Amino acid sequence: MPSDNTSKRILLGIGGGIAAYKSIELVRHLRFLEAEIVPVLTRNAARFVTATALQAVAGNPPRSDLWDAAAEAGMGHIELARWADAVVIAPATANLIARLANGIADDLLTTLCLATQAPRFIAPAMNTKMWEHPATRRNVARLSADGATLLGPADGEQACGEFGPGRMVEPADIATAVWRAIAAPAVLAGTKVLVTAGPTREFLDPVRFISNRSSGRQGFALAEAAQAAGADVTLIAGPVQLPTPAGVERVDVVSAEEMRQAVLARARGADVLFAVAAVADYRPAQFHERKLKKDESWATRLALRENPDIVAAVAATCELPLVVGFAAETHDALANARKKLNAKNLDAIVVNDVAVPGIGFDSADNAVTMLHASGETVLPKMPKRAIAQRLITEVAALLAQRPAPAPAVPPVAAKG
Ligand code: C5P
Repeated sequence: MPSDNTSKRILLGIGGGIAAYKSIELVRHLRFLEAEIVPVLTRNAARFVTATALQAVAGNPPRSDLWDAAAEAGMGHIELARWADAVVIAPATANLIARLANGIADDLLTTLCLATQAPRFIAPAMNTKMWEHPATRRNVARLSADGATLLGPADGEQACGEFGPGRMVEPADIATAVWRAIAAPAVLAGTKVLVTAGPTREFLDPVRFISNRSSGRQGFALAEAAQAAGADVTLIAGPVQLPTPAGVERVDVVSAEEMRQAVLARARGADVLFAVAAVADYRPAQFHERKLKKDESWATRLALRENPDIVAAVAATCELPLVVGFAAETHDALANARKKLNAKNLDAIVVNDVAVPGIGFDSADNAVTMLHASGETVLPKMPKRAIAQRLITEVAALLAQRPAPAPAVPPVAAKG
């Protein structure tokens, strides 16, 4: 099982609950983060998800039997317990939680959990009444006291038809929580990061505006990932319907001009600007206080003025260590992005081809190429949050390559 220094090695323990079918999706999300996965099934988990499907997505054969001589000869269970950087148990049933809380080691998974020193992440999934039972409450409290991290459960409708706490947290959220804890080793600690996100709206009158299809999701995901990597993050957001990522300062703006002012007011002293916003290139030359009437034939006389280029202004005037632009293109994506990289004097540009169905605007997924002076990084189709996490790793590396700022010259003491 080859591993480089950056990839994380995860033992994925799968308990015997209906949510076990989501482990396939969880493996995919963890692999987007370049984690290497060895799935470990309990006997009952194998009733819900097949070893064949898991092997196909994980790339490693799942393990389940402590007494499997062939598997043990390849990597014994103690070796496997040492190999792991993290143990993720999803779903964790009430029974599995009880066994783990009491240090019972009666199958491969519970034995590994006892033998490992790696951090353990536990995503419970069970019927609400089972979750609320005093025995489960005691077991969960004991597991937390032993240092395990509980992820969820979430509230909502359950497979048994009941409502309440007990649903397994969504695979993407489990993967993000694990990534935050083990793979985002504070690579941006001590840095100040600005992110622009979403579209801008350029109003013609109180009801009409020019805008675009940007959902803001990629920018919000970057703000979330930068914060998880230890940065102090300010997110300057155009009008979007998205919750603010935890720990991120958000400034809401509407027009390009408002976004420009918000960015310039905060750019000095920042280390990185991610200009993800799809800023409208033009605005109506004149704003009309009253709604224009159709018979005023304004549409045929609509004059537009070019908006100022925010990222270019920051790159030219604010001396940030790193300015990263984004380009959504429909054709000649790389050539167009390279032109923008140079014309706007950026340190890097992240380009995606929005003509490809299923990525970019309005999608949960993206596929991008990051161009910079020393090369390019291609990130194939994956969720926007995974793209963001991978970009943060890349940008932290670029930041680390930059020469340290010259020390301030102390003033020469006046003689006399
Ligand atoms: O729209 P365009 O493809 O030129 O955008 C490329 C980059 O420039 C993006 O990072 C975008 O946020 C930024 N931009 C800007 N101000 C504008 C137009 C674009 O900061 N007025």
